[in-house]
Amino acid sequence: MRAVDIIHKKRNGGALSKDELSFLIKGYCQGDIPDYQLSAWAMAVFFRGMNAEETANLTMAMAESGDQVDLSPIHGIKVDKHSTGGVGDKTSLIIGPLVASCGVPVAKMSGRGLGHTGGTIDKMEAMAGFRTELTRDEFIAQVNDIGLAIVGQSGNMTPADKKLYALRDVTATVESIPLIASSVMSKKIAAGADAIVLDVKTGSGAFMKTLEDSEKLAKAMVEIGTEVGRQTAALISDMDQPLGYAIGNALEVQEAIDTLHGKGPEDLTTLCLALSSHMVVLGGRAGSLAEADAMLRDRLYSGAALEKFKVFVAAQGGNPAVADDPSLLPQAPLVLEVPSEADGYVAAIQAEELGLAAMLLGAGRATKESVIDYAVGVVLQRKVGDHVRKGETLALLHVREDNASVRDVIRRVQSAYTFSGEPVSPSPLLLSVVT
Ligand code: URA
Repeated sequence: MRAVDIIHKKRNGGALSKDELSFLIKGYCQGDIPDYQLSAWAMAVFFRGMNAEETANLTMAMAESGDQVDLSPIHGIKVDKHSTGGVGDKTSLIIGPLVASCGVPVAKMSGRGLGHTGGTIDKMEAMAGFRTELTRDEFIAQVNDIGLAIVGQSGNMTPADKKLYALRDVTATVESIPLIASSVMSKKIAAGADAIVLDVKTGSGAFMKTLEDSEKLAKAMVEIGTEVGRQTAALISDMDQPLGYAIGNALEVQEAIDTLHGKGPEDLTTLCLALSSHMVVLGGRAGSLAEADAMLRDRLYSGAALEKFKVFVAAQGGNPAVADDPSLLPQAPLVLEVPSEADGYVAAIQAEELGLAAMLLGAGRATKESVIDYAVGVVLQRKVGDHVRKGETLALLHVREDNASVRDVIRRVQSAYTFSGEPVSPSPLLLSVVT
């Protein structure tokens, strides 16, 4: 078998066999097939797509490319949650402690930022000392002990996805339904959870821009989960504007902490409660979504989830005092205002542009090798529906210095906003559920 023939077949719209996909994935992991051939193949998949059987075979080839975690030593039904990636999405930092405080064990493996979207692991590493790598024994012991651990993919879990994910990030091949579905589900399957709740983002800040594509992605992932015996539910949520106000690692940790104090932005709080409700039901702690919602609100507003967050941060080497003292998080030396160039109601915000703006400030990676600046980012002051006058502040940029590239970012943020003379209502946050 030759990689070039497989690329050729996919380029011409053919369906790849299980053996061909497994040859490609194994060869890539072993270093026999180079980046440039996998890039060409990924681009062919981007344009030609893959059928359900190919997607399932690719998922399993990636899940089996490394270690598969056996979570059976953890008591209870382990429920994992995964977002397909958005701008300002800090839900895992809130949902982890919130769901764990309801007695559902959360043994979660998270990823790093990809393209214009941030990653939970990068955000957690914004807390000094926080360890995102635990040994398997430490991971299991921590979940049994405190009900929650969140780590990056361990050394040899889904190495195929790790390599391919980083490659797709820099070859413009992220936004492909079969590549996203297999990437997400290979990790979830290898990570060993019994049940999976997926947050599929849709809109300008998501990899899937339309509800139709997002539903296709959700169905593709739910099908894979069902086929391998993991109960899977997918919520489709709006990403036509960033979630919450903060974009950037430490800034998002701060907003997550505010939310755990019961003082978070409404959209972020609502989404966290919705995803958590599904997790609590799948985890067998509530008989209905309404019962789960009531339990979760109690844990959120009583401070129980915040306490769980502190215990979790301490267990993974961070300083739990960060939950009460934001100045312990990395701080950018300069905060610049982005003034509005128009009067009116905010009609739309190009979330992807804001994700890119934060990345250009240093909050994300432009290349595989880029080093993240945890302190920098964007904090919106106006969201869809808000009124603004010319010269008033649309957003604040947390930066290291004021220079030409920061001025470009200011213009980018300004052009991400569009305005209307008439009042505007934001689109609904929760769009559908696929089970
Ligand atoms: N999230 C993932 O885990 N993989 C993708 O390909 C995109 C988003």
